[in-house]
Amino acid sequence: MANNKTILRALAGETLDTPPIWMMRQAGRYLPEYRATRAQAGDFLSLCYNSDLAAEVTLQPIRRYGFDAAILFADILLLPQALGADLWFVTGEGPRMSTTTTQAEFDQLRSVGDIHETLNPVYETVRILARELPKETTLIGFAGAPWTVATYMIAGRGSKDQGAAHALKSENRAVFEQIIDRLTDATIEYLAAQIDAGAEVVKLFDSWAGSLKGQDFDDFALKPAQKIIAALKSRYPDTPIIAFPREGGDRYIGFAKATGADCVAVDNSVSAEWVAEHVQPDGCVQGNLASHHMVTGGQDLVDETRHIVRALSKGPHIFNLGHGITPDANPDNVQLMIDTVRGA
Ligand code: CP3
Repeated sequence: MANNKTILRALAGETLDTPPIWMMRQAGRYLPEYRATRAQAGDFLSLCYNSDLAAEVTLQPIRRYGFDAAILFADILLLPQALGADLWFVTGEGPRMSTTTTQAEFDQLRSVGDIHETLNPVYETVRILARELPKETTLIGFAGAPWTVATYMIAGRGSKDQGAAHALKSENRAVFEQIIDRLTDATIEYLAAQIDAGAEVVKLFDSWAGSLKGQDFDDFALKPAQKIIAALKSRYPDTPIIAFPREGGDRYIGFAKATGADCVAVDNSVSAEWVAEHVQPDGCVQGNLASHHMVTGGQDLVDETRHIVRALSKGPHIFNLGHGITPDANPDNVQLMIDTVRGA
C-alpha cells in the first residue's frame, strides 16, 4: 500500500524537503485545554484509563498545531501496573510504585497473558484515535523499554542515578534478570495489541539507557530492544519502530542496525552534525531540539531549529525535541518551532 503520510515516508528512509514534526509530551500540562480535560478526569491515571478523554487530549495538539503525528496518551508505567505493581502519582513529585526486589515479590507479579485486562482501555483509546485522526496524521503507540520500567519497579519511584536498579543488578542478578525478561515479554504483547488496535508506528522509550555502561548497555538496553523488535517484526513486518535509548552517547552508533529499529531518536546531548555523521547513515533519525527552547523562545529557538533542520537535511529525519516538553513551556514557542521547521 503506497503511503503519503510524511512520518511513514521518513521512517521508510526517504529524505524529505521538509522534515515531518511531532513533539514528545505534546499532550501535556503546558496546554490549557489539557489541564481542563485532566481536571475533568480527576487525576492523571484516571485520564489514562478513560478512553474518550485520553483520545481527546491526544487530539488537542493535533487540532491546535497540525503535528504530523499523534502519540497515544498513556504512560510507560501502566504496563508494570498491569503486571500487578501498585502505582500512584504524587502531585508535584511524580510516580510512586510498590517495589519488586525479592524473589517473593517477583513471584507475586501477574503473567504476561493477564496484562490486557488492565490495558484494554488503552487499546480502546487507540481504536478511537485510528477513527478520528485526520488522514494525514500518523498514530504512534509506545511502551517503556524494560530497563527504564524496571528502574521504577525496583526503586518504587524515579531517581537521578537509577541507583536501586544498579544495586539489584549486582546484588541479586537472578531477580533483576527475571524482571527484565518479564517486562520484555509483556512489552511485546502490549505493543502488538496497540498495533492490532490501529497504531501505525510504535516507539520504545528507554529514558535511562544512558546510565547503562559497557556490557550492561548491551545486555539491558540493546538485547531487550532487539528481542522486542524481532518479535514485532515477525508479526508486523510493515510497522515501523522508533527506538529511543536516551543519553546513549556513542552507543547511538549502530543501535538501529543491531536492534532492527527503523529510526533512532536522539536527545540533545549530541550535536545534529554528529548525528548526521554517525547515526543517520544507518537510516532515519528523530530529534533533537533542547526542550528549554519551548520555555525561552525567541531568536535562539529559530536559529537552533534551523541549524538542526539543515544539519540533518541530507538523510531521513523526523523533527522532535531531545526530551519531553515541560509544563512551564509557552504554547506560542511551539508554534514558532513548527513555523520555522516548515519554513514559514
Ligand atoms: O509523549 C506523549 O505525550 C505521550 C504520553 C506519555 C506520557 N508519558 C504522558 C505523561 C509518554 C510517552 C510518557 C513516557 C514516560 N512516562 C516516560 C519516558 C519518557 C520520558 O519522559 O522520559 C517516563 C519516565 C514516564 C514516567 C512518568 N510519568 C514520569 C516520570 C512522570 C512525571 C511526573 C510529573 O508530574 O511530571 C509522568 C507523568 C506524565 N506522563 C505526564 C504526562 C503528560 C504528566 C502528568 C500530569 O498531567 O500531571
